[in-house]
Amino acid sequence: MKGIVLAGGTATRLFPLTIVTNKHLLPIYDRPMIYYPIATLAGMGIREVMVIVGGKSVGDVVELLADGSHFGLDLTYRYQHGALGIAHAIGLARDFVGDEAFCCVLGDNILLGDPLATVAAEFEAGAYGAGTLLYRVPDPERFGVAEFGPNGEVVGFEEKPAVPKSDLIPIGVYFLRAAAFDVIDRLAPSGRGEFEITDVLNHYIPDGGLYTQVYGGHWADAGTVPSLMHAAALAAQVDAAGRLPAAPQRPGRQAAG
Ligand code: DAU
Repeated sequence: MKGIVLAGGTATRLFPLTIVTNKHLLPIYDRPMIYYPIATLAGMGIREVMVIVGGKSVGDVVELLADGSHFGLDLTYRYQHGALGIAHAIGLARDFVGDEAFCCVLGDNILLGDPLATVAAEFEAGAYGAGTLLYRVPDPERFGVAEFGPNGEVVGFEEKPAVPKSDLIPIGVYFLRAAAFDVIDRLAPSGRGEFEITDVLNHYIPDGGLYTQVYGGHWADAGTVPSLMHAAALAAQVDAAGRLPAAPQRPGRQAAG
């Protein structure tokens, strides 16, 4: 399986923090935000990862992550011009992915829990076309929101609905296969002008091709100031319990003392 991290976008919800720097470089507790999604992919046993970059300070993102060897990964980069949406950004990785299954993790998604190797293997071994993880939140209107049928099955996702149909959201971890690029090609932009990942997930629901599982660890996004603070507090809590792995150090840049 290959991996993609999305680190484009404009991060206007974090202005002025992100007027001159890239959101994914901001600290979450003791490490830059983007270390978390990178670690999520590494924890699945994925080795080849493409980072989609865009917005401010792209060179700094590349300098920080370099070739990825300090994460045990082989990293490549692709530039997204503009912020046309998550599905658009994923579409840029078509040649990199080739015929393989892949997992995309959003660059502002902080997952603090057991590695997802089993989930990734279950998706890859199954006949699913797409997969995502669900998480219960108090403010679902900020996210994609799952709607459930009478037997507890997901019947659709709505992006940032005014009236959410549940409090379970798809977090920014998406399992897909190469055929998803054709689905992305046929998408129309949403009312807010973005190519939405929820539209990609919805495509797979009618034929039973969507894999979902409720995520059992701690999760936060870090796209707003309160959620950035919450993510840092969660990471500190996990560290205090001795469950946050040490941040990888770039070769030649060891911390002193
Ligand atoms: O965090 C989970 C949520 O993430 C999901 O529940 C939603 O369905 C999904 O749309 C997404 O919502 P957000 O509003 O939080 O997405 P945001 O625009 O903040 O983008 C998330 C990450 O994706 C961000 O770190 C940068 C990257 N991105 C985003 C866009 C729009 C790109 O790389 N390119 C883009 O064009």
